Amino acid sequence: MPAYVLVGAQWGDEGKGKIVDYLAAQTDLVVRYAGGNNAGHTVINQMGTFSLHLVPSGIFHPETTCIIGNGVVLDPAVFLAEISDLRSRGVDVSRVFISDRAHVIMPYHILLDQLEESAKGGLAIGTTGKGVGPAYMDKTARVGIRAGELLDPISLKPRLQQVIQYKNSILTKIYNSESFDLESVFTQCVEWGKQLKEFLRPTELLLQQAIARGKSILIEGAQGTLLDLDHGTYPYVTSSSSSVAGISGGLGIPPRDVSAVIGVFKAYCTRVGSGPIPTEMPTDIGVDIRERAWEYGTTTGRARRIGWFDAVVGRYSSRINGFTSAVLTRLDVLDGMPTVRICVGYKINGEIVEHFPSTTTLFEQCEPIYEDMDGWNEPTAGVTQLSQLPKEAMRYVKRLEELIECPIRLISTGPNREETIHIEPLF
Ligand code: GDP
Ligand code: IMO
Ligand code: MG
Repeated sequence: MPAYVLVGAQWGDEGKGKIVDYLAAQTDLVVRYAGGNNAGHTVINQMGTFSLHLVPSGIFHPETTCIIGNGVVLDPAVFLAEISDLRSRGVDVSRVFISDRAHVIMPYHILLDQLEESAKGGLAIGTTGKGVGPAYMDKTARVGIRAGELLDPISLKPRLQQVIQYKNSILTKIYNSESFDLESVFTQCVEWGKQLKEFLRPTELLLQQAIARGKSILIEGAQGTLLDLDHGTYPYVTSSSSSVAGISGGLGIPPRDVSAVIGVFKAYCTRVGSGPIPTEMPTDIGVDIRERAWEYGTTTGRARRIGWFDAVVGRYSSRINGFTSAVLTRLDVLDGMPTVRICVGYKINGEIVEHFPSTTTLFEQCEPIYEDMDGWNEPTAGVTQLSQLPKEAMRYVKRLEELIECPIRLISTGPNREETIHIEPLF
């Protein structure tokens, strides 16, 4: 059986964690291919409420194998704390594996992330400060340390020595900051190696073998397409390929094994960190939604900015990823609004913009063209049958479906696993 991909269609936090937890009942493996602990995926099920940053959201299904692929950057301290928390809450973590090729987020990456952000002043990206960007920079600069190297102290030491020397000159000469002591970082790495050993595997092989044996794989995206390094709202993006583009590189399986690409859309837009959001709601409505729906970052606790559904973004995302179907989450959050707005196009200086602009300067100038639709009074919250949706809500869903050019096959009406309308199979 093939692999199915689930990616965020907007700026992250679309509810991927909830949907993966729901869909994982149907698959044998759940795997992450990109990002690091900048991700925060909330899962609420019979075992409790969980914020997962690295462990895939399929972990609550006792038969499911969870893999952190080579494309992920791994902070060992965060991973080990997450594992220990899950264990203490009765979750079986014996089926979690990490690629030995995954790059490690080192203490100097975290410090550099914070220093680089402060140095950017008003042009800061608003990163999560977890060292993700600097770790990917080292990967492409070919000075990164991979998880498997933590098991081989003899080879690790000279590599680490070279990197730390270089990092220390940046830290002290450019940022006037503290430097790192080789011996203590090395000791920490060796300790991490001992603790990670049981999890490390050549995961590309595990995945290839699983496919050959007819197992099914759910690939869990982190972040969202508009945060993708190439296709997102650059430079206000993350440092990895969070769209479908990252899959083959981040897992070591060929694209031909992917048979479904599912886009997860929130029924409106949110964004955390810097960068434009053309459909941002007036403060009163935005604040109301933020407080009612608790739109605060799972990783950093920052307030998310709230906008109306942006169908220009939606269509762009749908075409970049080739969505075969879509999931719509948080429909219930719009319950009781007299009018719901959808952005169906942009204008810049009165001219219609046909294609999603490539620069922040242009994107900032985009004025949304709105289509207003009647809201609904009866609640959608907790609804599990399509027939129970108010007709206005149904009309909203149908219109979104047309605009994003792919069928919505699952609607989420609440944060709990069961608060789901499964219209048609997604794969
Ligand atoms: P992710 O990063 O895409 O996994 O999303 P987050 O977990 O960061 O943020 C989504 C938030 O919405 C979490 O608090 C979820 O519990 C919650 N959530 C998911 N689906 C729904 C839904 O349909 N309705 C409501 N009200 N909350 C939802
Ligand atoms: P999940 O998987 C929302 C944002 C940050 C910042 C930008 C770059 O939970 O959807 P980084 O730390 O990656 O260098 O920050 O990307 N960002 C996210 N926003 N959800 C996420 O993940 C995010 N991961 C990164 O806020 O704007
Ligand atoms: Mg999140």
